[in-house]
Amino acid sequence: MNIETDFLIIGSGIAGLSLALKLAEHGQVIIITKKERAESNTNYAQGGIAAVFAPNDSFAIHIDDTLKAGAGLCDIAAVELLVKEGPARVNELVKWGTHFSKKKDEAQPIFDLGREGGHSRNRIVHARDLTGREVEQSLLAALKSHPNISVYEQHFAIDLITEHHLYLNRGSNPGSIHCWGAYVLNIPTNTVHTVLAQTTILATGGCGQVYLHTTNPKIATGDGIAMAYRAGAQIANLEFMQFHPTTLYHPEADSFLISEAVRGFGAVLKTQDGKPFMEQYHSMGSLAPRDVVAKAIDTELKKYGHDYVYLDATSLDATQVKHRFPNIYKNCLCYNIDITKQPIPVVPAAHYMCGGVVSDLRGRTDIQNLYTCGEVSCTGVHGANRLASNSLLEAVVFSHQIYVDITDSRSNREQATFPPVPAWNAEGTFNQEEWILIEHDKMEIQRLMWDYVGIVRSNLRLQRALRRVELIYREVENFYKKTTITEGLLELRNIVLLAKLIIKSAQYRKESRGLHFTTDYPNVDDKNWKHDTVLTNLNNKLTFVEK
Ligand code: FAD
Ligand code: SIN
Repeated sequence: MNIETDFLIIGSGIAGLSLALKLAEHGQVIIITKKERAESNTNYAQGGIAAVFAPNDSFAIHIDDTLKAGAGLCDIAAVELLVKEGPARVNELVKWGTHFSKKKDEAQPIFDLGREGGHSRNRIVHARDLTGREVEQSLLAALKSHPNISVYEQHFAIDLITEHHLYLNRGSNPGSIHCWGAYVLNIPTNTVHTVLAQTTILATGGCGQVYLHTTNPKIATGDGIAMAYRAGAQIANLEFMQFHPTTLYHPEADSFLISEAVRGFGAVLKTQDGKPFMEQYHSMGSLAPRDVVAKAIDTELKKYGHDYVYLDATSLDATQVKHRFPNIYKNCLCYNIDITKQPIPVVPAAHYMCGGVVSDLRGRTDIQNLYTCGEVSCTGVHGANRLASNSLLEAVVFSHQIYVDITDSRSNREQATFPPVPAWNAEGTFNQEEWILIEHDKMEIQRLMWDYVGIVRSNLRLQRALRRVELIYREVENFYKKTTITEGLLELRNIVLLAKLIIKSAQYRKESRGLHFTTDYPNVDDKNWKHDTVLTNLNNKLTFVEK
C-alpha cells in the first residue's frame, strides 16, 4: 500500500510529538511508532528538564556547566541556542498542558527547581520523579483529536527511501541524496507500506538496548541511526555512550533508574562499608558530572570486588523524600528496600547516546528533506558527555528549530515530485521461524558490548568485541536477505550495526575524553582529538570523515 503525506515523523517521544503539534499547522502529519504511542524513553524520564528560571541563575552559567560536562567537544553555538531557548520551550510544554511541580510557599507559584550532577544551580523543572510520563501524556492529549495528525501505532520504519533503495546513483557529494519517506512494516498484518513524504523527520530516540544493562526500554534499538547510516547520512560521536551512575542493583529490577535528582536532594554515594568516596574523585562530590561518577563507581567496584555501591538517602527527611520521589520510593519498596531507612544498592547502566545523526542548528541532516531531532541526533550540544536533564530540553529546542526552518523555507520550496518507488520486495525470503537465533544473537551482542565496550575500554577489548560483532553482523545480513522480516529481526539488524559503529568509533578515537575512557590512551589529547568522530557509509564502506 502507498501512503502520501506532507510530513512523516518517525517516533512518538517528546521530539516527535512536540514537532507534530507545530507542523500540523502547515500540512498533513503522519506519526509512525513501533509500539503503542506512549512507549518511548521520554515516558520513563525522571529527573526533569534543565532551564534557567532561578533568580540566581543565568544563561551564562547554564552554558558554562554544559560546556564543562561536554569535555571540550560541545558546539558553542548549539549550546547557546539550547540554553537561551530553554525557558520558552518549557513554557510551551506548560501551554500544552504539562503540569510541572511548583513551589508551594511562593505568592506567585513558580517551578520547584531541582538539582542534578554537573549543575552549579538549581534548574531542573520536574513533575516529581515522573517528569517524562507527565510530558508524554500531555503531548498525546494535546494532539489526540487534531484533524491534521494521524498516529500509526505498531508500525516499524524499516528503511528510509532514498536513491540507495531505488538503485539510482546517488553521487558522492554531500547533499546529493534525497529522502522521499520510508518503508514501514505494519506489525499486526505483517505487510510493508511505502510511505511517501515531502519531509521526513527521524525522532526515533536512543540505543541503550545495544548493552546488556540499560535504563532504556525495549524500543531503544538505534533504528534511526541505523537507517540514516544505511542511507548515507553522516553519523557522529558514537563512542560517547553515557552510563548513568545509579540504577537499582537487584536481579529483578531491570536496571530501574534512581534519578540523579536523589543525589541533588542530598543523598550520598558510599562504599559497602558506609564510606563516602566521591570527594576523592571530584570537588562536586556525589554531584559531579555523570562520566566522572560512573567511572568512580566502576573503580570502587573493581577495587573491592563488589557488585554494587550504596546511594544513601537515609539521613534526609523521610516525608520529603516520599513526596519528592514517590515512584522511586514505591518501586524500591517492591524489592523490600525502604529508601528512607536503608541505603539503595546501585550500579551504572547504559543510559544515553550522546552521538547520532549529524544535524545543523535547524535539525537538517546532509540528506535532502530529512531532518532529525531528539536523542537520535547529534546537534553538538552534548559533546563528549551530556549534562543531566539537557536531553528533554534538546528535544524540544531542536524540534522547534525544524519547525522554524520548514516555516521559513516554505514559500521558496517546490513540492517534491516522487520518483517511481518500487513496492517492498520480499521475493526469495522465507518465514524461517528462527526466533531463537535472533534472541541468541541479540544477547551475545548486548553481553559483549557490556563486557568490552563499557565504561573502561582498551585496544584489546575493542578488537575482541569487533571480531565477534563483525561475524554476527555478516550472519545477520545474510539471514535478513533470506528471511521474511519481523520486528525482532529488524531490531537485531539495527542493534548489530550500532554495535559495530560504536566499536569502530571507539577504536578511532586515540585518547580518553568525557565518556570514552581507554587504558591504552588514558589522557585527553587536545592537539589531535579535539573534534567529533564523524563517519558515513560511502558506497557500502564505513568511512571516517577527516576533521
Ligand atoms: P524517545 O522518547 O525514545 O522516542 C522514540 C520514539 O521512536 C518511540 O516512540 C519509539 O517507539 C519510536 N521508534 C524507534 N524506532 C522506531 C522505528 N524503527 N519505527 C517506528 N518507531 C520507532 N533526559 C532528560 O533530559 N531528563 C531526564 O530526567 C531524563 N531521565 C531519563 C530517565 C530514563 C529512565 C531514560 C531511559 C532516559 C532519561 N532521559 C532524561 C533521556 C530522555 O528521556 C531521552 O533522551 C528523550 O526522552 C528522548 O526523546 P526522543 O523523543 O528523542 O525519543
Ligand atoms: C535522572 O533522572 O537521573 C536522569 C536525568 C537525565 O538523564 O538527564
